[in-house]
Amino acid sequence: MYAIPADRQEPVQEMFSAIARRYDLNNTLLSFGMHHLWKEHAIREAKPPFGGRAADLCAGTCDIASLLAHRLGVDGHVDALDLNQEMLDVGAEKIRRIGLADRVTITRGNMEALPFESDAYDCATVGFGVRNVVAREKAFGEMLRILKPGGRAVCLEFSRPVNPAWRAMYELYNFRILPKVGTIVASDSTQVYEYLPASIANFPPQEELAGMMRDVGFSKVHYVNLCGGIVALHVGVK
Ligand SMILES: C[S@@+](CC[C@H](N)C(=O)[O-])C[C@H]1O[C@@H](n2cnc3c(N)ncnc32)[C@H](O)[C@@H]1O
Repeated sequence: MYAIPADRQEPVQEMFSAIARRYDLNNTLLSFGMHHLWKEHAIREAKPPFGGRAADLCAGTCDIASLLAHRLGVDGHVDALDLNQEMLDVGAEKIRRIGLADRVTITRGNMEALPFESDAYDCATVGFGVRNVVAREKAFGEMLRILKPGGRAVCLEFSRPVNPAWRAMYELYNFRILPKVGTIVASDSTQVYEYLPASIANFPPQEELAGMMRDVGFSKVHYVNLCGGIVALHVGVK
């Protein structure tokens, strides 16, 4: 299995830069289109209020940011933040194309030290990002800081299928098929589709991640398993 370096930020960023232009297509192919449903579910849990303010962290190509902007309406605003300029460039094109440029501000930055004010956001989302973050407690602490009291944090991430037979099938797909298909579709010479299953296997399972959110200070922490736990949606309230 791919060995994840302790300081993975730089190699991981090189991988995202290499696949940015094919990221959306690959996501759709490799998740059989399911990532759109998972992201819509995340928005329902985030409960963005009409005219409110939301932050989407590790925003990548801005799928979640655009869903949030639609839900917040014309008077709402989204701050979309990511470390990777190439991913954000693809996201910015998408946001312009769908006419949301005046409702979404795109910022390059690190989720571990958000350049956003405290107690300012109705909800904060992070989709398939926390797995790549080095200092995860710090990142969750930053989500908590920027939320208004009562604001909701939603973390959408790959997790552990609960049923052993389902987990075995999923691991076969993840470790054997996905790296080959991903590498071909993304014309990728980096190890990103080797990194992906390894990073999922190394990520804390549902209860452990919920515990991390509670330790950081979130209340009412709970999670919903999607596709039998392939993906989990964690929610915490400030
Ligand atoms: C798998 S993509 C997810 C993109 C998008 N949220 C989605 O669901 O399609 C992960 C993103 O996290 C970003 N990322 C990783 N570590 C980060 C950090 N510390 N701060 C901000 N973004 C980070 C990467 O640059 C990448 O764009």
